[in-house]
Amino acid sequence: MQLTIIGTGYVGLVAAVCFAKLGHFVTAVDREHVIHGLRENKLSLWEPDLQEMLESCRREGRLFFDTDITHASRGADALMIAVGTPSGTNGHTDLSQVDEVIAQLKQGDGVCPPLIIVKSTVPVGTCDELEANLLTAGLHTEVVFNPEFLRQGSAINDFMNPDRIVFGCRSHLAKAALHQMYKGINAPIQVCDRRSAELIKYASNAFLAMKISFANMIADVCEGYGADNRQVMQGVGADRRIGPHFLQAGIGYGGSCFSKDLQSLLTSGNAIGRSLPLLEATAQINEERIPQLLEKLISLWGNPRGKRLGVLGISFKPNTNDMRDAPFLTLLRLCYLYGIEVQTFDPVVQTTSIEGVIQMDTAYEVATDADALIIMTEWPQFAELDWVLMAQLMYQPILLDGRNVLSEETISRLLLVENVIYIPVGRPLERTNLATSSHL
Ligand SMILES: NC(=O)c1ccc[n+]([C@@H]2O[C@H](COP(=O)([O-])OP(=O)(O)OC[C@H]3O[C@@H](n4cnc5c(N)ncnc54)[C@H](O)[C@@H]3O)[C@@H](O)[C@H]2O)c1
Repeated sequence: MQLTIIGTGYVGLVAAVCFAKLGHFVTAVDREHVIHGLRENKLSLWEPDLQEMLESCRREGRLFFDTDITHASRGADALMIAVGTPSGTNGHTDLSQVDEVIAQLKQGDGVCPPLIIVKSTVPVGTCDELEANLLTAGLHTEVVFNPEFLRQGSAINDFMNPDRIVFGCRSHLAKAALHQMYKGINAPIQVCDRRSAELIKYASNAFLAMKISFANMIADVCEGYGADNRQVMQGVGADRRIGPHFLQAGIGYGGSCFSKDLQSLLTSGNAIGRSLPLLEATAQINEERIPQLLEKLISLWGNPRGKRLGVLGISFKPNTNDMRDAPFLTLLRLCYLYGIEVQTFDPVVQTTSIEGVIQMDTAYEVATDADALIIMTEWPQFAELDWVLMAQLMYQPILLDGRNVLSEETISRLLLVENVIYIPVGRPLERTNLATSSHL
């Protein structure tokens, strides 16, 4: 098939290379400065395997780039919209990027692909409105909704091996075209009406966010009663009705989707007179995570002003350089307010552009002379650090393990170093036992 994909961000570019790998001919469209980089195989986003796949698809002549929607969609069997849909004012979703694509199609040469596939996450009813809007310009095309469930950091693998694929469409022709597009991907396919498909995406993200906030809420109870949240959630998640995923306590969720999708669903609920209190609580628990964790450090420090905090990992999750809604940014804002100095190390994110952050080249440099360290992102290499050396390099060896990354064995060794305080999430903090510290 000939496919045109508008938007080459995390979703659009991953979809473009994956559909090209599946054997389709794909033209991906974006702004001039983005396409300029892509034509030189330069990626601004970091995602495992993406660079190699992009280069091979281009070499094989199945992936092309363009800046002109009309030109790129001429002769296409389907046009996919994968532009951003960020939070707008008053909790509403900002659909301006989607509207701009529709406006460009309407201003084109009067020819529009027979199928418009909306992959961007959009509020319920949007596809109905887009189709009606196109019709006003005489463009007879079916708008379908095909939500994307990939996770940044494992986007290619998720796209090629999804748990399910959802087609929200009206006609058999659209359904057949979507089946052809996804031929080669082995996953259950759910076909439903557009509004249900739009809601499936929001409800899925809201449920995942709710699981994380639930785990964090129980983690607080564990800390208060001396229980171990990891054990508790292992027992809870072993129930197949619940499942083990997204039950890890930590610093809370971040990233470009959960907060904005939750907000959008809340706003949609309010618009029909429903308050959706479960979602309100989910958001509130999440917002309290970082202030709560910082309070733990401050209670140990006394006066926070002038303290030096080392931060390991600043992207919102491992294997991505995406900083949108990263919990680190909340931490940073609070550190400014308290007069805490921040020095960071992240394996892929460069922080030189973030004001007030001292960026280090290694984790050991971040530890040097720090008054505390916090692990914000669970990059696997952080678990492999020499944590005894890390503690010895610190001015005050206080480690806040925001993702419970350290193994029991590492913690035991760490606690042999003088004056170490190890603060996990969801279980009580541990200190060096002075009787054993002399063994080191
Ligand atoms: N990022 C994720 O993990 C994820 C997962 C599932 C769904 N989604 C949804 O997918 C959509 C895209 O997300 P993303 O993270 O890829 O966004 P993004 O911001 O990374 O990328 C959007 C791209 O669209 C381009 N664009 C905007 N308007 C354009 C126009 N008129 N013409 C050409 N290009 C245009 C932008 O330049 C940008 O490169 C959003 O609705 C998001 O909610 C994202």
